[in-house]
Amino acid sequence: MANSKYEYVKSFEVEDEVMLPNLIIVRIYGYNFRRLSEDHEFEKPNDEQAFNLMNSCAAAMLEEYPDIVFSYGFNDEYSFVLKKTTQFYQRRASKIVSITVSFFSSIYAMKWKEFFPLKEMRCPPFFHGRVICCASMEVLQAYLAWRQDACHINNQYNTCFWMLVESGKTEREAQDILKGTQKQDKNELLFKQFGINYKNLPEMFRQGSCVLRKKAEDIVKYNESGNPIKRLRRKAIVVHSNNIASRSFWDEHPSLLNELGQFGEGIGRVKPEYVKSFQFENKLMPSTWIVVRIDGCHFHRFSEVHEFEKPNDEQALNLMNSCAVAMLEEFVDIVFSYGVSDEYSFVLKKTTQFCHRRASDMVSLIVSFFSSMYVRKWKDFFPQKELKYPPSFDGRAVCYPSSEILRDYLAWRQVDCHINNQYNTCFWMLVKSGKTKSEAQDTLKGTQAREKNELLIQQFGINYHMLPAMFRQGSSVFRKKEGKTAMDKGGDPVERSQVKVIVDHCNIIETRFWDEHPSILDENPFSSIQTDSATVFS
Ligand code: GTP
Ligand code: MG
Repeated sequence: MANSKYEYVKSFEVEDEVMLPNLIIVRIYGYNFRRLSEDHEFEKPNDEQAFNLMNSCAAAMLEEYPDIVFSYGFNDEYSFVLKKTTQFYQRRASKIVSITVSFFSSIYAMKWKEFFPLKEMRCPPFFHGRVICCASMEVLQAYLAWRQDACHINNQYNTCFWMLVESGKTEREAQDILKGTQKQDKNELLFKQFGINYKNLPEMFRQGSCVLRKKAEDIVKYNESGNPIKRLRRKAIVVHSNNIASRSFWDEHPSLLNELGQFGEGIGRVKPEYVKSFQFENKLMPSTWIVVRIDGCHFHRFSEVHEFEKPNDEQALNLMNSCAVAMLEEFVDIVFSYGVSDEYSFVLKKTTQFCHRRASDMVSLIVSFFSSMYVRKWKDFFPQKELKYPPSFDGRAVCYPSSEILRDYLAWRQVDCHINNQYNTCFWMLVKSGKTKSEAQDTLKGTQAREKNELLIQQFGINYHMLPAMFRQGSSVFRKKEGKTAMDKGGDPVERSQVKVIVDHCNIIETRFWDEHPSILDENPFSSIQTDSATVFS
């Protein structure tokens, strides 16, 4: 298809391939899970069902992505280790982290009812994620020891803390009692004051959970006499171990030895420089516009399975737009977004400190929020259609140094929308009129925009310019100041301004749009005006 003059903006995208022989770990952790656990009254300090839900999502990840060979999690976090030789998404860090976090968020939202049948999900779960590179098996071993130690320390502290609170202490008093205590002191406190032997608490709470693949018998079907026919299959299973970073644990599982390699003898204290590298995260360049572009993974298949209308399914597009609106309502630093088909670009203001400008935190949080919302809102837009499997989105963050280049980026996406939509409209009209797909392709080969418009008019009586603006121009979501008349205390009318998030289908290539909405790319828009979360769809 034709290139537009805006394509140069692609050169601002940066490569982030994790080079071999580094091992890749994706660490996913809940964002503001405290709110999620309080809103849904999770048991303290550990909610077994919430842990089972996390484990079930981790098992689904191993079923979905064959390159993940091992995972370990506790509380609201999970780490996924990819096989040594993986070529998953060409080893591109932002793709890997965004797709996995997105899938995890979608599946968490989808499985919620299975684990909490009596609890309505009030707010969707969000996760951050980042890729951690391990230069050797020794570093992987240190990473796992570090995470399992964190599980142990957290759980022991939380068990003591909540026992003290339950026994009548205030949260402050409980904190003061535990300040400076060692592991041994906490075990004694539990035993002496509450008769609890810490070692007898459930393994899942003390040790965390591992998910790996093991050969197991599976019933594939039943024969004529009703007897089960079993086959050996590699299935994702949950196991617990008190030392996942030990050679003996690793040696017990051939899949880990084959796909990753062998561990050395047990390690002692994890080297601080390793911990520093596990926590390191790149920051995006300051004073630049940041665009996070997300794109549905394999939406070609997703739209077939869910029987979306071709070439444009109005409800599917409205669902995408509604998720984008929710995004602007949740994250004030997103000043504009533009969406078409299965993609959405979110523009963050130049001065944003969102996620401390850490690229993978930002991208993963945005795809996670979008994916959870998509699952949650599905029924609102498709009340008659079941969501058959979790959708996932990949994402990337790109910095643009000036407003002009940012506008060229958005123009590039809108030109792409136009080119694709015109082609797809012609293609599907030809197919619907009886042509095969390859005949339709041949008919359209080498045609220019004008010829396609003529084809539509002459053969099908369709004036392309009269098609819905959402299909031709995509959707822009932004905040708009609106005046409204309210009554003051004395009953006199007063003019009030409020800011609303709106969806529009306008031409964003022309400068006129930006001149009419100067606040969008303003450094400090609407600073003195109250924000109203109400949404107007125009
Ligand atoms: P990756 O993004 O590379 O994973 O592949 P993809 O299958 O998602 O393709 P891509 O993102 O390039 O294009 C999006 C695809 O989603 C389109 O080719 C369509 O097949 C499908 N799609 C998006 N919106 C609609 C819609 O409104 N109706 C229908 N029928 N399909 C749609
Ligand atoms: Mg896609």
